[in-house]
Amino acid sequence: MTALLNAGMPVASSCFGDGVCGKCRLQIIKGLENLSAVNETEQFLRDRYGLAANERISCQTQVQGDITIDATYW
Ligand code: FES
Repeated sequence: MTALLNAGMPVASSCFGDGVCGKCRLQIIKGLENLSAVNETEQFLRDRYGLAANERISCQTQVQGDITIDATYW
């Protein structure tokens, strides 16, 4: 989420990255293997909102390599 905001990309949020709202979810088109492991907070949100396997909660995810992403609101 921070990397996107620093690049000038909009990221939906109502909790400002506290891992509560789930609105910052993104679809990973390529590079899922280049993201950090799912942490406890993200797993809670994944279960709560029924995220697909290729979706991640961006405020809880660290980018470790090249990825291609999309969001429903872009
Ligand atoms: S910004 Fe709210 S969960 Fe990520």
